Amino acid sequence: MTAKIIDGKAFAADVRARVAKHVARVKDESGITPGLAVVLVGEDPASQVYVRSKGTMTVETGMNSYEHKLNADTAEADLLALIDKLNGDPAVHGILVQLPLPGHLNEDLVINSIDPAKDVDGFHISNVGLLGTGQKSMVPCTPLGCLMMLRDHHGSLSGLDAVVIGRSNIVGKPMAQLLIKDSCTVTVAHSRTKDLPGTVRRADIVVAAVGRPQMVPGDWIKPGATVIDVGINRIEAPERGTKEDGSVKTRLVGDVDFDSCAAVAGAITPVPGGVGPMTIACLLANTLTACCRANGLEEPQGLTA
Ligand code: GUN
Repeated sequence: MTAKIIDGKAFAADVRARVAKHVARVKDESGITPGLAVVLVGEDPASQVYVRSKGTMTVETGMNSYEHKLNADTAEADLLALIDKLNGDPAVHGILVQLPLPGHLNEDLVINSIDPAKDVDGFHISNVGLLGTGQKSMVPCTPLGCLMMLRDHHGSLSGLDAVVIGRSNIVGKPMAQLLIKDSCTVTVAHSRTKDLPGTVRRADIVVAAVGRPQMVPGDWIKPGATVIDVGINRIEAPERGTKEDGSVKTRLVGDVDFDSCAAVAGAITPVPGGVGPMTIACLLANTLTACCRANGLEEPQGLTA
């Protein structure tokens, strides 16, 4: 079997177009422009790139983008004061504090100081609890993007066996909750799982979110299964030659070994161009959803769990 490649880039472009269309309607009917505030503490280069592209895409979909860049040594009280101000700002419908934060800042405290209704990451303890009990919540962006692609490919997920590899708060745990909500039978596997190959082999759906390059080989995959690869890992690629400074060129790979898995799976997401683009698209969708809920406006259809 040769797997269908799930084109996350095209899917994300479609989600952003649907967001833009609904944003235009909201502006037209209510005069309200959805707004997303992104807070970046420090100068981590990867985070800077990420924050810049969030800002660009927010504006492209017709929403307002507010960027707050703070020094790496910002005091916790100052960050909390900024969040408090954003919580009270009616022009701000979504707040995202870019993670990871510098070590002296308490991430849990910071995240839980965001108004849950503006928590477009879905990381606040209230949203985690609402999702876990199957209630309406803000849903973390990466698992939401995975769910949208799975629903699109399968139609109904009801009764399917799903294995989520990885138990992080950002991806693994919320992914499992979403799959349970869609009536999958869910196993969350992790580094201590006794028989990982055997566990993965039983799955109709495999979501890999461990952050270990190419750790899932094709012979772990049940023929015809759907493989969603959340990993984004940079590895050395000597076959690409060397850079000007003499160092080996690199490339991005996922948590699954794409070639061997694509030979067995029914469908698979590539890296890059799979889950990655869906994360920002879902952030925009969440910002729009938060704006609609805050103002009693009709929510966009098909853009949340
Ligand atoms: N850092 C990497 N991914 C994310 C994300 O989805 N949300 C936040 N807040 N920080 C991140």
